[in-house]
Amino acid sequence: MAKYIVLLGPPGAGKGTQAQVISKDMNLAHISSGDLFRENLKNQTELGKLAKGYMDRGELVPDDVTIAMVKDRLSRPDCQDGALLDGFPRTPAQAEALGAMLAGIGGEVSSVPYIHVPAEVLIERLGGRWTCPTCGHVYHEKYNPPQAAGKCDKDGSTLIQREDDKAATVENRIRVYTAQTSPLIEYYRQKGLLAEVDGTQSIEQVSQDILKAIR
Ligand code: AP5
Repeated sequence: MAKYIVLLGPPGAGKGTQAQVISKDMNLAHISSGDLFRENLKNQTELGKLAKGYMDRGELVPDDVTIAMVKDRLSRPDCQDGALLDGFPRTPAQAEALGAMLAGIGGEVSSVPYIHVPAEVLIERLGGRWTCPTCGHVYHEKYNPPQAAGKCDKDGSTLIQREDDKAATVENRIRVYTAQTSPLIEYYRQKGLLAEVDGTQSIEQVSQDILKAIR
């Protein structure tokens, strides 16, 4: 049965950073719901226009459109043998929908690494995050700086800061995570799928712990 891994954790825990490493190591498609929304935003699609207000406020995009977007992405050939999900599911309704859609394509959630990081660390991480607008690679000005200041190591693009990384929006994103997403910790623990990982360690150590948990 095809295996699908769900990376769980608050905003800034390192889901995107780890997904880049783990998907490469395990040769799995990386599905980031946040990146899918940002792509739609960039291309000014109807979905992008709808998502923008929610994202700017640090709120969740409604379940029905989010589930439809991820279902479409999972139906593509590169996800047939499994995938790494980053940022989805984020509500109990999304988790139920994921279980149903995977059962429909002969798959299942095989493990849920939960990257645990305290709130004060998250705020510092998101305040110092820089992203490549071309390839999506993520940096931190202190913890994971690019070789040349302000430029992506991979393709030389000028790095940008995300709109929703402003302090007030970050605080709301953490509140929304606690209220709406954190119940998934218990949901997956009860299914015997949760593997807790200490996300305050170095990026390399967190990767090793996640890979150990998955295997
Ligand atoms: P999304 O893009 O998913 O944002 P998020 O979950 O808030 O997560 P982030 O991307 O902010 O953080 P991350 O955990 O990936 O951390 P990163 O690796 O970058 O969602 C954005 C918005 O889209 C949502 O607010 C919502 O509106 C909408 N949305 C998305 N999915 C949705 C869904 N399913 N339902 C409804 N709405 C949805 O790391 C952060 C920083 O820390 C980086 O600078 C990095 O270099 C650094 N760092 C990482 N690891 C370490 C480490 N170990 N030590 C030191 N620094 C580190």
